[in-house]
Amino acid sequence: MSQRTLVLLKPDAVRRGLVGEIIGRIERKAGWSLRALELRTLDLATLEQHYSEHRGKPFYEPLVEFMSSGPSVALVVEGERVIEGLRALAGSTDPIAAAPGSIRGDFGTIVRENLVHASDSPESADREIKIFFPELG
Ligand code: RTP
Ligand code: MG
Repeated sequence: MSQRTLVLLKPDAVRRGLVGEIIGRIERKAGWSLRALELRTLDLATLEQHYSEHRGKPFYEPLVEFMSSGPSVALVVEGERVIEGLRALAGSTDPIAAAPGSIRGDFGTIVRENLVHASDSPESADREIKIFFPELG
């Protein structure tokens, strides 16, 4: 089943020069393709919408501060079961617990600075793609 998902390479990934490494892993999955790609510093309004489910949680304010601390790369990826697949490529939220071989497991140590975001369901993907790339809606 072909799907679309919204992926963010977070500011730590861009600062550390891991954009090529991470996008390379996505591109090498057979049959998946990039539908949109943009380097963008995320503003408060965008982040409030994107992370609305986390508003009020203790990690929300530092998360928004981190996510606006420098440019991110936003992309839409399309392909077979890409929502589940990108979550698997990313690994668990906590990079220390994330499986080696996953992006977070290979490159991260800090929960907040965990390199990538990937939509967690078809409903989230629809909602998030509309926020970042309304023209693809
Ligand atoms: P994401 O939404 O970024 O793809 O990550 P996720 O689903 O794996 O994790 P989620 O629970 O949605 O949390 C969103 C992001 O908030 C930061 N976070 N910090 N306890 C903490 O300090 C904490 N918990 C979560 C992470 O950057 C996480 O990816
Ligand atoms: Mg999430």
